[in-house]
Amino acid sequence: MSAPHDLAIRGGTIVTASDRFRADIGVRGGRITDIAVSIEGAQEEIDATGLLVLPGGIDAHVHLAQPTSDGTVMADDFESGTRSAAAGGNTTVLPFAMQVKGTSLRDCVTAYHAKAEGKCYTDVSFHLIISDPTPQVLGQELPALVRDGYTSFKVFMTYDDLVLNDAELLAVFDVARREKALVMVHAEGHDAIKYMTARLESEGKTAPYYHAEAHHQVAEREATHRAISHAQLTDVPVMIVHVSGRDPMEQIQWAQKRGMKVHAETCPQYIVLTRDDLKGLNMDFEGAKYVCSPPPRDTDSQAAIWEGLRDGTFEVFSSDHCPFYYEGSGDTGKDNSRARTSFRWVPNGIPGVETRLPILFSEGVSKGRITLERFVALTSTNPAKLYGLYPQKGALLVGADADITLWDPTKVATIKQADLHHGSDYTPYEGMQITGWPVRTILRGQTIVQDGEVMADPGTGRYQTRGTSEAIGRAGVS
Ligand code: URP
Ligand code: ZN
Ligand code: ZN
Ligand code: ZN
Repeated sequence: MSAPHDLAIRGGTIVTASDRFRADIGVRGGRITDIAVSIEGAQEEIDATGLLVLPGGIDAHVHLAQPTSDGTVMADDFESGTRSAAAGGNTTVLPFAMQVKGTSLRDCVTAYHAKAEGKCYTDVSFHLIISDPTPQVLGQELPALVRDGYTSFKVFMTYDDLVLNDAELLAVFDVARREKALVMVHAEGHDAIKYMTARLESEGKTAPYYHAEAHHQVAEREATHRAISHAQLTDVPVMIVHVSGRDPMEQIQWAQKRGMKVHAETCPQYIVLTRDDLKGLNMDFEGAKYVCSPPPRDTDSQAAIWEGLRDGTFEVFSSDHCPFYYEGSGDTGKDNSRARTSFRWVPNGIPGVETRLPILFSEGVSKGRITLERFVALTSTNPAKLYGLYPQKGALLVGADADITLWDPTKVATIKQADLHHGSDYTPYEGMQITGWPVRTILRGQTIVQDGEVMADPGTGRYQTRGTSEAIGRAGVS
C-alpha cells in the first residue's frame, strides 16, 4: 500500500500569525492534509527538529523585468528574480504588470504573462500599474481585469512617466471602489521633488546622496496625506506602500485613529539603512547602490518604523525589490556616464527579495523587537489576506497549499553578494550579520531550495488568480 502522505514534516515548531506549537505536517497532492502531534508515514520524510515551520514568505512588492523610461535594463527577469525569492524563503511573489503610457493595460498584462511563463520558481501574481487612466482603461479594461483576478493596482504620485494628477487619482480610486479592488499608492509629491532636484543641481549638489534630499520626507508626508484625503472622499481602502519614516507614518496613524481604511507597508531599507548610506565612501558614486524611492531616512525614522511594525500601523513588510546593475556600461546600470552627472539619472530601486525575511527576522525577532507571530503576519499571512490569496496562501491550515519555509533561528550568516541568487551585481546589505536563515523552501509540497541550493526547475511556480482583498468589506488582518 502506498504511504498516506507525499510528504511529512516532523518535529518542528509551527508558527502562525497568532500561535506557535509543536506538531507534524502531512502533505498530499500539494496541500496540507494533516497537522497533528504525530502523523502517519510519507514517501518523503523531513526531520524539522530544532527548526521553525513557517508559512512560505509572500513578497507583495517586487519589480521584475520592467522596462524603464530611459532604457536602463533591470537586473532580474522572472527566472532570476523568483530564484532569488525562493532562496530567501519565499513561495509567492507579487510583481507588477506595468502599463506603458499610450498602450492598452490588457496588452501589458498579456505581455507580462509571456515574460513569466515557464520561468518562475515561486508562484506569482501580478498587481497592475496604471500610468494612463484613459476612459477606455477606466471604463472597460480595468473593471474587466479586476473581475479576471487582478484585484490590486498601484498608482504613482511621482515619476515623469508614471505620475497621475489629483483628478486622475480620484478617478482610479473611484473604479477601485466600484470594482472592489485594492489601490496601492506610491506617495511622494512630484512637484516638490522636481523643485528640490532643480535647486540642488543649481547649487552643484549632484552626488547620489542628494537624491535623499530631493525626495524629502516632507514631500512623502504631503503626498501621503493627499492620498488619504482622496481615499476618504472616494470611500475606498488604500495601501500606502514603502513608507519610509516617521512623518508619513504619523499621517497614516492619524487616518487609522479616525477609522479610515488606510493600510500600510514598509520595507527592509527603512529599518537598516539611512540616508548616510547614500554618501557612499566619501560622497562618491558608491552611494548610487542605495538610491531608491522613497529613500532611507535617519535613526529616528528607523525607531518610528519599528514602533509601527510592533503596533500594527504596518500590516505588510515587503522588499520593494527593484534590481539594477551597479557596474553597468552604457545605460545598463547605475554606474553609467549620465548617472554620474546628477543623481536625477540614477535608476531608483535596490535589490532585496532574498534578504527581506532574514533581515526582519534577525533585526526583529532575534533582537526581541517583534514576536515570531508578528513576523509571520507581516511577511506572509497579512499579504495573503490583503491581496486576496488567503487561506490558500499565507496559512498553515488543512486544505491550504503546502507552501512552507523551514527556518533555522540559530543559524548565523553574513549577507554576501557572492551567496545571493539575484541578477544584480551587488547587495546594499553586504556584510550584514544575520541570526536566523531559511534552510528549506517548499512550494506546494515540493522542495524548491535547500540550504541555498536550487532544487526545482524554472516553471515550477504557477500564476495565481486572486480574490478580493480582506481590506474590502471585512476586517481580518492582524
Ligand atoms: O525606488 C524604487 N522603489 N523603485 C521601485 C519603483 C517603486 O516606486 O516602487
Ligand atoms: Zn493524513
Ligand atoms: Zn513605488
Ligand atoms: Zn516598488
